[in-house]
Amino acid sequence: MAQSEQPVKTSPTLGTLQPSLTLSITAKAKSLAASGEDVISLSAGEPDFDTPDHIKEAAKEALDAGDTKYTPAAGRPELRQKIAAKLQEENGVQTNAEQIVVAPGAKFSVFTAVATLCAPGDEVIVPAPYWLSYPEMVRATGATCVSPATKAENNFCLTPQQFEQAITSRTKLLILNTPSNPTGGVYPREFLEGIAELAVKHNVMIVSDEIYEKLIYAGREHTSIASLGEEISARTITVNGFSKAYSMTGWRLGYSAGPDWIVQKIKALQSHTTSGPTSFVQAGASRALENSEAFIQNMRSTFEERLACMHQRLSDIRSLSVTKPEGAFYIFPDISSLGLDSMTFADRLLNEKKLAVIPGKPFGADSNIRLSYAYDPGTIEKGCQRLAEFCDELAAS
Ligand SMILES: Cc1ncc(COP(=O)(O)O)c(C=O)c1O
Repeated sequence: MAQSEQPVKTSPTLGTLQPSLTLSITAKAKSLAASGEDVISLSAGEPDFDTPDHIKEAAKEALDAGDTKYTPAAGRPELRQKIAAKLQEENGVQTNAEQIVVAPGAKFSVFTAVATLCAPGDEVIVPAPYWLSYPEMVRATGATCVSPATKAENNFCLTPQQFEQAITSRTKLLILNTPSNPTGGVYPREFLEGIAELAVKHNVMIVSDEIYEKLIYAGREHTSIASLGEEISARTITVNGFSKAYSMTGWRLGYSAGPDWIVQKIKALQSHTTSGPTSFVQAGASRALENSEAFIQNMRSTFEERLACMHQRLSDIRSLSVTKPEGAFYIFPDISSLGLDSMTFADRLLNEKKLAVIPGKPFGADSNIRLSYAYDPGTIEKGCQRLAEFCDELAAS
């Protein structure tokens, strides 16, 4: 039998997942560039900063000291203790080391939370635009995704009213992401207070993905919904990680924090799938939590300058409608006046102007595209120039 033939059906849940489109567009742009084309990409989902030296040194020291063996499935107690202290001090989340599960990436932390909570028959509210992995994770459990469309005028944040309208007797979970990928929206505290009250009233769990919390601009502040009281804390799994704040995407380290009953289940799932995260990576992460304020401040202010620059350039393109993001490193302009769906728009932009951006469709927003400003100013300028030419030509055609 040929390797391409499929003798049996795959799983109706996990076997239906599709590869992440953000990764495939980045790969197409890279392969065009490798074949000699002058391609510019504004599609990256990771900071363009190197991991700080003190973090690398800690991992190297750990390796040299023979830190190469299995660790506990939920991560080392010392690291969990530091994460618990960080969540208490910085985020106001009341937690302890036993309630922390360190995982190979925040993506896996979101997945284990969703997978331990959800089953066929459950509904999960995932406000659109959403990070494209959430609906796939929900589908993997056999649960159903319900996606109310948020509005640009609310910075793409779900209002408490929208949340209440989406709740049914089957609603198990709400997935929140603040600051947001792809919109850069940051939930105002009042929205979170309203959402928390409703979640408690209707007994809905919350997964709060706060991976971009350090990248927040214009004096806005990050609020962790789990900090808003005991009752909401008892229903929230807070997810965070090291990828974005410390520019450690390739290290693969994230974590979740939640009430004991669910954390025990997440630990069990992790113990039978990945086991503990990489030993010496945990040593690097532990150091990251000690001494990284200067690095983060520099990266944050660099991103804020680039945001101002890219936002200005995009606002000058008259056919686009652009909301100013308040966090993360993405801008999510509306392209609907140009008459193309987002996939066609992104495909033609790459083919005709050699500029890679991410179409909004997999984020649940087919009228938008996602641009990343995790690039040097020259690349941002050149990319915006190509986008402006493309939009002007389309608008004139
Ligand atoms: C909203 C969001 N959550 C989680 C992740 C994944 O983080 P990690 O690299 O820790 O798996 C990403 C990465 O792009 C993200 O955008």
